[in-house]
Amino acid sequence: MTSEHSFRIGILGSGKGSNFVAIAEACAAGTIPAGVALVLSDLAEAEILDRARERGIPARFIAPGKFRTKLDEDAERACIDVLRAARVDLVALAGFMRVLKGDFLRAFEGRIVNIHPSLLPSFPGLEAWKQALDHGVRFTGCTVHFVDAGVDSGPIIGQQPVPVLDDDTPETLHRRIHSAEHELYPKCVAAIARGGIVVAGRRVVWKEN
Ligand code: GRF
Repeated sequence: MTSEHSFRIGILGSGKGSNFVAIAEACAAGTIPAGVALVLSDLAEAEILDRARERGIPARFIAPGKFRTKLDEDAERACIDVLRAARVDLVALAGFMRVLKGDFLRAFEGRIVNIHPSLLPSFPGLEAWKQALDHGVRFTGCTVHFVDAGVDSGPIIGQQPVPVLDDDTPETLHRRIHSAEHELYPKCVAAIARGGIVVAGRRVVWKEN
């Protein structure tokens, strides 16, 4: 399933893994010309690991170490080593709840992407859908971006707007954003796998549409 593809994706996640599933299904359907080579999680019980194993995709728990919001040095080194051993071309964060630091960013420079549940640069950080609701915006959405040393701050690859409805609760809005994510993330990963995007400073240009 992964071996016939030359473009290999490594996924890092801490949660349910619905974005991983969207990407894996798009790979299986051929809409992303790539394969998921490996899924890593900082939580042994994360559903994303089960979702990977049911698809026959190698899935590993990496103990994150003593910090709460980042990986310690050993964990970071272990992640780098297994992703390199799996020869991944792209690292896609899909609900990974830890900030990645220097060594990891250098190891995969320009090859790490993330999905965030708001239209960045609005509402970076946690519970972005709730931030949007509390702020009273009429539109929010999701953003796929390259990862840099900041929080949700790297060059933007793609965005999909989602309206905020009068009777939305944090849950209903989050659900609608999640559905948009499952469309946007595979599209962006497919464009990267095809070599269809160019990064010029902060701007990401799609050579194709
Ligand atoms: C998504 O809402 C994503 O935007 C955020 O984490 C969540 C992951 O959801 N970064 P899932 O594990 O892919 O279902």
